[in-house]
Amino acid sequence: MKTIGVLTSGGDAPGMNAAVRAVVRTACEKGIKVIGINRGYQGLIDCDVRDLDIRSVSDIIHRGGTMLYSARCLAFKEEEGIKKGIANCKKLGIEGIVVIGGDGSFRGARDLSLRGIPCIGIPGTIDNDIVSSDYTIGYDTSLNTIMQMVDRIRDTVESHSRCIVVEVMGNRCGDLTLNAGIAVGATAIVIPEIQADVEQHVIERIRRTQKTGKKHFIVMVAEGIGGVDALAKKIQAECGVESRSVVLGHVQRGGSPTVRDRVLASQMGYRAVELLSEGVGNKVVVVKDDKIVDYDIYEALTMKKPVDISLYQIAHDISI
Ligand code: F6P
Repeated sequence: MKTIGVLTSGGDAPGMNAAVRAVVRTACEKGIKVIGINRGYQGLIDCDVRDLDIRSVSDIIHRGGTMLYSARCLAFKEEEGIKKGIANCKKLGIEGIVVIGGDGSFRGARDLSLRGIPCIGIPGTIDNDIVSSDYTIGYDTSLNTIMQMVDRIRDTVESHSRCIVVEVMGNRCGDLTLNAGIAVGATAIVIPEIQADVEQHVIERIRRTQKTGKKHFIVMVAEGIGGVDALAKKIQAECGVESRSVVLGHVQRGGSPTVRDRVLASQMGYRAVELLSEGVGNKVVVVKDDKIVDYDIYEALTMKKPVDISLYQIAHDISI
């Protein structure tokens, strides 16, 4: 392989830059030219590209966001968009692509691979919702950000003997909410994977904790559940504790990546280029039991990841 492309797609995640850096440097080391594709698949359709060399990726390992920009490209779900992308690959001499993103981005990678442009996917999303991988790039940074933000909120909640209901990102996946919830000692955690009567569950948890003498409460709710404002009002009415709600929002997606995300991104970027240089495509590079492994994209997209019930039970038992 003489020339490969690299793109970042979907919601950005801290550590994407470290992955781009690893891809570019590994390829350069192997004598492979790298073309950076801007704004994900949209850039492939529009031929919005730039050449990257070892110095183009200097001073980005510590930066959040993505130097290649990102987009959610609906046009690439259509045959016409895919055809334009393939035509541009041919024009630019791109023989393989590393795609850094989530499940939606991997579907695009599979479509290209099936049409003769081998692609390797790398899981980059704060949500940790790529079922084939134990961790995704950006998840650890986001968890730490959420913990820091809620620790700050705790200061004021404690001073005023209030309850705060916090909405956490994660799309349809509760991993961020559950793990951050344990880390901040939340009295109640609500995630989409565990079916419950939300109001009843949260109010019971708060009443139980009130009986032990506690006067301030943190409730963590996954965005897939939503309704934090109404829930705060209900808590105030039913439990007699002044309550507020906050949606943490995009603060969770920014910031300098943690050590874990930088190392993971570097390992995955390195392996992705190794695979392409061996002529292997249609794969995702993931982490399983602390090892970097690869799966067929289709296999990866159809895997199922059950929620960690034991973790939920721990939160339930020790946050009192
Ligand atoms: O996939 C990452 C994520 O931040 C999700 O947690 C959230 O549901 C979504 O992206 C928000 O997307 P946008 O930035 O397009 O509003």
